[in-house]
Amino acid sequence: MAKKIVIAIDGYSSCGKSTFAKTIAKELGYIYIDSGAMYRAVTLYSMRKGYILNGIPDDNRITGALDRINIEFLYNPVSGEFETHLNSENVEREIRSIDVSSYVSPVSTIPQVRTKLVALQRQIGLSKGIVMDGRDIGTVVFPEAELKIFMTASVDIRAKRRYDELTGKGIVVDFEDVRQNIIARDITDENRDISPLRRADDAIILDNSRMTVEQQMEWVRGIIEKKINES
Ligand code: DC
Repeated sequence: MAKKIVIAIDGYSSCGKSTFAKTIAKELGYIYIDSGAMYRAVTLYSMRKGYILNGIPDDNRITGALDRINIEFLYNPVSGEFETHLNSENVEREIRSIDVSSYVSPVSTIPQVRTKLVALQRQIGLSKGIVMDGRDIGTVVFPEAELKIFMTASVDIRAKRRYDELTGKGIVVDFEDVRQNIIARDITDENRDISPLRRADDAIILDNSRMTVEQQMEWVRGIIEKKINES
């Protein structure tokens, strides 16, 4: 049986990381983990509890609540996908709302939040055979990952993709709000002190502005095969 590897996919928000990562995981029979969903679930919990006021997270109250936050990915046979559960409630849809998207970047800068979620991510990755996407997977979570990919695409293309995704799910949003949210998140993600978004030295860059998912898969197949053989 082929050896299993860890595939770390990092990059800017809305550049198609999760679609690409999910497709790779399906093809290889690997587990796909959306690390951004974990930060989103902590954000949703904090919003519901009133720990985010006027857009500013109360770091102490959020940190104090971390032991009461349980995040799981459970398979939904109807959608055929793993979905995010927060304290046993399926929150897959709610964590994608524009409100959660607006507050998740500041919440993800809280050091204790990152410590908890990185530990959870490493635990899930112990058995290998995993594709995980996020911002710090190749740099912090799995610096030893056999394959690291850093994804990017232009702001306008990313805004269009996120807008289509949200409206496709029946969520009503304004295109310019979506675009501004992406620009704001890029700035926060790249400039935070702890685990800023950056390409790992050994990550391969993929700019998919003009690529379909199938073209991206054609590009990555040979690379994966090589990494599995080398591991
Ligand atoms: O991938 P996403 O857009 O769902 O991620 C939501 C937010 O979570 C993003 O603004 C940055 C943060 N995040 C992070 O800090 N580290 C990760 N590994 C994944 C996401």
